[in-house]
Parts: sequence; C-alpha cells; structure tokens
Amino acid sequence: MKAEEVLCLCGDVSALENVSLHWDESMAAYPGGSEIVFLRDDEIVSNSRACGFDEDVTSRLLSVAEKIRSSEYMSRLAWHCYWRIFLSEAPCPPSDWPEPVELGEERGILYLLVGIGYVPLVRENHRQLGLPLEVALETVAQVKRFCDCNYSRAYKGRLGVFQSQLGWMRYYTKVPYIRLGRLEYWLQPSEKDLFVYRERETEKTIAFLPDGLTCLANGLRLSKPEEYEGLETRLTKYQDDGEKVIGTPVNPRGFVDRREVVLLRAKWDLVFKKGDMSLGMHIPSGGKMTFEECQKSLERAKEFFKEYFPDKLPVSVVCNSWIFNPELQEIFGPEANLNRFQRGLYLVPNASRHGDGLWFIFLKQWPFDLDTAPAETNLQRGILEFLKKGRRWRSGQMFILMDDIDRFCDGTYLEQFDEVMEQMK
Ligand SMILES: CC(C)(COP(=O)(O)OP(=O)(O)OC[C@H]1O[C@@H](n2cnc3c(N)ncnc32)[C@H](O)[C@@H]1OP(=O)(O)O)[C@@H](O)C(=O)NCCC(=O)NCCS
Repeated sequence: MKAEEVLCLCGDVSALENVSLHWDESMAAYPGGSEIVFLRDDEIVSNSRACGFDEDVTSRLLSVAEKIRSSEYMSRLAWHCYWRIFLSEAPCPPSDWPEPVELGEERGILYLLVGIGYVPLVRENHRQLGLPLEVALETVAQVKRFCDCNYSRAYKGRLGVFQSQLGWMRYYTKVPYIRLGRLEYWLQPSEKDLFVYRERETEKTIAFLPDGLTCLANGLRLSKPEEYEGLETRLTKYQDDGEKVIGTPVNPRGFVDRREVVLLRAKWDLVFKKGDMSLGMHIPSGGKMTFEECQKSLERAKEFFKEYFPDKLPVSVVCNSWIFNPELQEIFGPEANLNRFQRGLYLVPNASRHGDGLWFIFLKQWPFDLDTAPAETNLQRGILEFLKKGRRWRSGQMFILMDDIDRFCDGTYLEQFDEVMEQMK
C-alpha cells in the first residue's frame, strides 16, 4: 500500500509530501496490524494507566485500536507515524498528517495511541541510564498533559495529541530527559552563548553576552538585523584578557545593562560557558507553577543528577521560553507565579522573534487576530491587552547555577548584582 492510497482513504491527501518521507523504509519494517505492539490491548491498558488516563479513556482507546488493527490503511498510518517519531535514525516528525475521517469524533485517538506507545521506550531508556522506575512513571505522564491541556482544550474535549508535540516525545526515549515534580530537565552541554562569572569571596554572579551583539536602547534583543532598522540601538561589550573582564553585563532582570563593569580575574572565576554541562529545563503545561513547586523541583534536580550522573555534573539550569520574557513583570502582578519564579532566576535577553511561545497559550500560530483570539483565562486576557497596545511579544532565557539552588529565593541574583554595580561607580 502506498502513502497516497492511505491518505486517500483518510480523506485528505494534502500532507502527501511529508507522509511520503521514509515511507518505504518504515513499511519494510511494518509488522502487520495485529502485530503492532503499541496497538495490542494489554499494551494499551498498561500504557494508558502509566500515563495517568482513567478507565473511561482507556476503554475508548481500546475500542479505537480495534478499528485501527482491522483496517490496513489506518494500521499502516499509525505504524509509519510511530516509526518516524521513535525508530527513524534521525528526527523526522510528522507534520499536518490527517486524522482518519472514518473515526469521527475519535479521530485524534490514532495519534494518541502512537503517543502512549512511548511508555516502554521511555522505561527502557531510563533502565539503560540506571534510573529508578518511579521517575520514568513521573516522566511519561507528559502525554496526558499534551492531550488534556492542549489538544482537548483546542478541540472541545476530543482526545488526541498535536503532531507538533508528538515529535518532541522522541527525546524522552533517547536522551537523559526527565521529569522531576513540576519541571522537566535534559542533561546536555549548554548551547547558550553566555559567560557567567562568580566572585570567589562573595559568590556574587555576573553574566555577559558575547561582544558586539546588537540590542535595543532598553537592552532587549530582536531576532533579525533588519528589525533594528530605524531604531535606537547599542552593542554589547565583552572582553576577557585573562587579567580582567570589561563589558556591559546582563542585568538579571533580563536586559543588557548600559553600565560598563571591570572584573579582576584574580577575584572572579568564569564558572559557566557554552559547552559546559547543563540541565535544559522544560516547562510542562498545566498551570500551578508556584514558586514552592519550582523550588522543590530544582532542589530535586540538583540531588538527582548528582546521584545518577556523577561524571556529568551540570553546572547550571538553563531555559529559553516566553515564560522568561521580562515584560511579564509589567503585565501581571508581582505575586503571579511566573513573576515570582522569574525573580529567583538570572534572566538573559535573547534574539527573540515577535510572537515566540504564544502557541502554548492560545494554541494558534502567530500571527492571529487579536479580536477573535481566545480570552478565556487571565493569562490570555493579560497578554492580549499587552498585544493590543501594539507591543511586541518576546521570549527570554534564564539560568540558575546549581550552586545557587539551595539559596533560591525571591531575588537570588538581583541584590548582589545591584551591589556590584554600585561598587563600580
Ligand atoms: C507556564 C505555566 C505552567 C504557568 O502557569 P501559572 O502561571 O502557574 O498558571 P496559574 O495556575 O497561576 O494560572 C494563571 C492563569 O493562567 C491560566 N493558564 C495557565 N496555563 C495556561 C495556558 N497554557 N493557556 C492559557 N491560560 C493558561 C489559568 O487558567 C489562570 O487563569 P484564570 O485565573 O483565569 O483561571 C502555564 O502558562 C502553562 O501551563 N503553559 C503551557 C506550557 C508552556 O507554555 N511551556 C513553556 C513552553 S516554551
């Protein structure tokens, strides 16, 4: 059976080009509908429970799986999707594939079955990494969040998963990517172009971006050189000659400071830079990201990675997200969960595109019409109000050094930064 035939039977051939990728390879490994492990009843019951779905959802999954198993085109489509996400050598996620019309209101379940099929793969990955079973169970709960918080929210309660999120699930099965409480962490060398110094005696911290980057007068950054045209700009400064560091530091409130500092290397160590081991943090949906839950998760991460990856100790936790847009401080009150969390971290501006991350809030790709966008929650309403003033939406980055997690508080880096700047006057 060819990809085109499968799509015709699905009722939509528009994704033929993407579906055709690796079709012959995946079909060479096709085991036949009744032999696809993730479509077997016992496997579905076990995977669905592990992900935290209730009995009602499990029985809906079982009933759709039965229909898929007995349909050659749906079995092949499900297999091809699973193969592309989890078995292909390089990442090759599905994009805009159709949901079979024949399944009616349950059509999103075909991809949800592929998604929960990652449970044994995540467990195997964790087993090979020598991690405890409880952590694999905590980690696999993510697919339920993809379903409840995103797909079901967008499609009025239907079950399913967005394909853009299915592709991400590959990483849970291949790399040290682990959920610990409210947050997820990926142990990997840092890709951030950042230089973080620490004063040995006082443990004060100052970060710099590379030299010569363009930023706006307010110290924030845009994604492309042409976006700066006609606007007042300045350049970042950063030089380290081994004796002293001279530059315009990043203010932990998330912008490049105008003021120049000079740090003596006899007193200040370079403690974190690109290539050093780090925990790339990811923020699962579901709200309720209280300061206390974030703190607990960070503390757990510090202990966990020390215990299970002692030869790859991370130096810092890092993240890039709309959640670290420093302008959230002006949109929401100081007690909002995100604002409290931000103030415990060192925020760093990034070359953000307009609209970065809005999908996670509105479940629509930017640009979209502000007047018809969903305004059901305080988060959505606050952001829409900001955008309607003609403001630009951005993302930001953050880091917190592992050594600072024990003293994570409201303002971990703020006062000490202000003190250093005061001393430099
Ligand atoms: C990031 C996140 C966890 C922060 O949650 P939080 O600030 O602790 O949220 P709270 O529980 O305090 O809720 C605050 C308001 O935001 C709403 N909200 C929370 N998550 C939401 C989301 N994803 N989309 C829309 N509104 C959301 C809540 O309903 C609440 O509004 P209400 O008072 O009208 O009910 C949350 O926005 C979320 O789940 N986002 C999706 C995941 C994400 O964006 N990850 C980062 C990807 S780069």
